[in-house]
Amino acid sequence: MIDTITVIGAGNVGATTAQRIAEKALARRVVVVDVVEGIPQGKALDQWESAPIEGFDTRIIGTNSYAETAGSSVVVITAGIARKPGMSRDDLLATNAAIVRQVTTEVARTSPDAILIIVSNPLDVMCYVAKQASGFPRERVLGMAGVLDAARYRAFLADALDVSVRDIQAMVLGGHGDTMVPLLSCTTVSGIPVTQLLDRPALDRIVERTRNGGAEIVQHLKTGSAFYAPSAAAVQMVEAIVLDAKRVLPCAAWLEGEYGMSGVFLGVPCKLGRRGLERIIEVELTDAERADLVRSADAVRGPMAALAS
Ligand code: APR
Repeated sequence: MIDTITVIGAGNVGATTAQRIAEKALARRVVVVDVVEGIPQGKALDQWESAPIEGFDTRIIGTNSYAETAGSSVVVITAGIARKPGMSRDDLLATNAAIVRQVTTEVARTSPDAILIIVSNPLDVMCYVAKQASGFPRERVLGMAGVLDAARYRAFLADALDVSVRDIQAMVLGGHGDTMVPLLSCTTVSGIPVTQLLDRPALDRIVERTRNGGAEIVQHLKTGSAFYAPSAAAVQMVEAIVLDAKRVLPCAAWLEGEYGMSGVFLGVPCKLGRRGLERIIEVELTDAERADLVRSADAVRGPMAALAS
């Protein structure tokens, strides 16, 4: 079993991620780091006290220092501020870039062999910041977006079709949220193309709702953004890595020629295993999907350039 998984940020996403990792017993220890004194310590103790009831032995440790994270195999980065109503993910750019740069520098120093999973938004740009700050190869810097976007899409499809979520498979490409590119050819209900079960206007409405899935939650919560589904998505990636499961999941990865693009993080189908990103799978796209993907990459490159200037 993996010795240590670290979660940076003990807020809504970070704390829920740590709890899920412990309940799945994916490591001997989960270390949660936050800048606020007392919060990681208090939450981790509360979580550890749930262990006898839930029956897990994974020790949850909360701290303000990186010393206890040393030698982590996987580090999930959730530090940063979350959206409030009316804010786009890009409104978080400058603040979260500074935070992600600082925490990644610490992580790279204390856990030089770690695989990083970035969750902080705006996701694709934060992956770039983490790759720059860590100097890690692309195999060890991945972003969590596609699993969440696909889960939202699958949940809405299950509702519309009144079938089990488990029977819906979907693949989404592109940037997180607004510029996501769902692949209709890869959306099936137990292998049955979804286009045989729902008409185009109904599918378009579901795609639109998925694109705005994060904003819909922010509108309800008002004081923060989604965390149950985002943490579940991050932990699915952690699980695929630590169990060397070779799962094929949509993740943000650094492109080096795949899909005709380079030098940008974008959501693509990734095979995840013990080495992190083990392969990017290239799917045949329609002309419209390819054009959407290029638009999506442009939407990531804009804020990337803004950071550099
Ligand atoms: N080092 C460590 N932790 C930090 C730092 C830092 N430099 N800066 C901020 N944090 C912590 C905050 O103290 C807070 O506890 O990050 C935590 C963020 O938690 P929340 O505000 O609850 O935000 P959350 O909902 O968890 O979202 C975190 O994930 O989904 C994305 O858009 C979301 O960027 C946001 C991130």
